[in-house]
Amino acid sequence: MRPKVFVTREIPSKGLEMINEYYDVEVWDKYQAPPYEVILEKAKQVDALVTLLTDKIDCNLIKTGASNRLRIISQYAVGFDNIDIECATKNGVYVTNTPGVLTDATADLTWALILATARRIVEADRFVRTGEWYRTGTGWHPMMMLGLEIHGATIGIIGMGRIGRAVAKRARGFDMRVLYYDKYRLPVEVERSLCATYVDLDTLLKESDVVSIHTPLTKETYHLIGEEELKKMKPTAILVNTSRGKVIDTLALAKALKEKWIAGAGLDVHEEEPLPPDHPLTKLDNVVLAPHIGSATHKTRTKMATLVAENLIAFLKGEIPPTLVNKDVIKVRSPGFQ
Ligand code: GLV
Ligand code: GLV
Repeated sequence: MRPKVFVTREIPSKGLEMINEYYDVEVWDKYQAPPYEVILEKAKQVDALVTLLTDKIDCNLIKTGASNRLRIISQYAVGFDNIDIECATKNGVYVTNTPGVLTDATADLTWALILATARRIVEADRFVRTGEWYRTGTGWHPMMMLGLEIHGATIGIIGMGRIGRAVAKRARGFDMRVLYYDKYRLPVEVERSLCATYVDLDTLLKESDVVSIHTPLTKETYHLIGEEELKKMKPTAILVNTSRGKVIDTLALAKALKEKWIAGAGLDVHEEEPLPPDHPLTKLDNVVLAPHIGSATHKTRTKMATLVAENLIAFLKGEIPPTLVNKDVIKVRSPGFQ
């Protein structure tokens, strides 16, 4: 009998076709996420789940699944803060993610936000579109829409994993000075190849013109950037976040932007997603907002789907999935549905 998999949302077809060769696939076909109760019900019936970061995969759901037939959760994302990993490991449930394939798309989007925020692109678009430019009665003015010069500025990268390093690599094209802070320092050769200097968070915040966040969301990174940290930044600096919204204390940030402790922010991720249209951030001109689209290119989303499939297929063949998150699970149960 073919194992069953429940996929919590439509993903690019190439991945689904690959999975279909080995599994009986059921896809949740609504645009909105399935309610928790639906995933819980499915967890009782299936051998595998394909999940997204908007699906809450808690210990109750994992235990319920594991006491039936659930053996693997293949997450369609690099981040997995929505899944109780420790509980999955204990219960012999494999969890995989999609690292690597979305690194460059996310680094590109980070740069789109850095440039859009520094050069006030969205504000400028509104200025033209609403007729405000026309009403000034002048086509060009020496003091119009001045922003932060990126070329030659200092960028401070918080979290120097794959994405942080890809952002650093792109900074070289702008002749920037690159500072970084991470829990772990990189090997000196890697630092040298990135022309990046390791500093503590305090120094990074005080010296950077651009602060860009690339940490996973953990207990340690929750509200890593709050009022105190924002006050350490230069009044001319900008903050960019393409990691997880909860790494920043959003209300502190809204205050910082309103009171001009910093010049601007570019945010692809939010504490609350979707961000309500009446959120304090939406009232401010000096923030660029995007709806969590870091990996949203045709090419990357397809690669994520095929990696999700590769993980499921390897597991079914009794092999260790290529991008297994909870490696300790191997000691609890070997891969495969036997
Ligand atoms: C998106 O945020 C991801 O973790 O892949
Ligand atoms: C994610 O891909 C990271 O390690 O930065």
